[in-house]
Amino acid sequence: MTKRVVLAYSGGLDTSVAVRWMTDEMGAEVIALAVDVGQSSDDWEVVRERAKAAGAVDAIVVDAREEFAEDFCAPALKANALYEGRYPLVSALSRPLIVKHLVETARYHGAEAVAHGCTGKGNDQVRFEVSTRALDPDLEVIAPVRHWGMTREDCIHYAYDHDIPITATKEKVYSIDDNLWGRAIECGEMEDPWNVPPPGVWLLTKLRSTDERDVVIGFDGGRPVSIDGEPLGMLEVIDRLNDIVGSFGWGRLDMVENRRVGIKSRETYECPASLALILAHKDLESICLERDLDREKARIEPRYAELVYDGLWFSPLKQAFDAFVESSQEFVTGDVRLHLSPGSCSVTGRRSPHSLYDYGLATYDAADSFRHQDSAGFVRLWGLGIETWAQRQGAKRIKD
Ligand code: ARG
Repeated sequence: MTKRVVLAYSGGLDTSVAVRWMTDEMGAEVIALAVDVGQSSDDWEVVRERAKAAGAVDAIVVDAREEFAEDFCAPALKANALYEGRYPLVSALSRPLIVKHLVETARYHGAEAVAHGCTGKGNDQVRFEVSTRALDPDLEVIAPVRHWGMTREDCIHYAYDHDIPITATKEKVYSIDDNLWGRAIECGEMEDPWNVPPPGVWLLTKLRSTDERDVVIGFDGGRPVSIDGEPLGMLEVIDRLNDIVGSFGWGRLDMVENRRVGIKSRETYECPASLALILAHKDLESICLERDLDREKARIEPRYAELVYDGLWFSPLKQAFDAFVESSQEFVTGDVRLHLSPGSCSVTGRRSPHSLYDYGLATYDAADSFRHQDSAGFVRLWGLGIETWAQRQGAKRIKD
């Protein structure tokens, strides 16, 4: 019996070859599903046609940009999620959303398997497969690229031999994955971590503005809701900031990161909107979150990012973290001013109706309302244990 498979289709070489390969080698009936998460793609109609030409029985395109922005980017922003302290999880965030649509499509079309075009060396296979098992453990996951043993050259020949229309050419030496939250560029000469990334790899952060400017981001309950006073949805905020911040050539990362599968990997990223938003959001939290809450949140943030990176978006711990983070955001409302100049983006002001910053307490001028006399007893008790230690043990050691 023919097996019906829903393939996460990008329109690129690997997934186009995968359509045909699964059809021929496995006798599968392939439904290609392309999910628009804001990647710079060919026209989606062209992508659909390409899937059909490769042999797909159906080709579906889902516009999931709004959903990606609202349900994936917004929670990640509230959690200030940065893997290994730097990478805002661009690809890691989109995979669970793509899987959600794969699973829905598989159910709708009565398919018993889903498939992806990831290699055996990366993180994305982990995310596709673990997320699928979380959402529907009965679905089989097929990873043709791990089976076929073809090099990139072989794939190009396979495509020519089978009349699969592809745009792959020799200049495509990089592996690129992009969406609203940023763009990842790997491979080519950058596989030597000492090599400077060639200027041609940068797209979103090509320097276009030579002046300086401010941009004010308004937040409500941890969510960005306006730019320079203009109310905007999450998707529009991201689009707008990618453009504005990217034009100053800011938002690049060049790092060697630890993949889930045990490989160290040199990665370059450009994430102008996500990095600017996290910078601003974190800063606003500094006036809106009580100290212990702020610190505990900062402790779980790296763990949150790690879970998402490792393919555990749909997991009980991640869900529990989401609940904690959501509860922490109640008073994260206000504005943050970013100053942009070529190659730089920094916070120059923050304000909030719920600010815990108290001028009367902080000031050194006449408006001072702090009860200085309270400090004497507080400091004495704070140091009492140390004083006792110094008298009985510590001071003796220093003398010795
Ligand atoms: N290293 C990043 C991650 O694991 C980016 C992966 C990009 N994927 C790709 N197919 N180029 O999230």
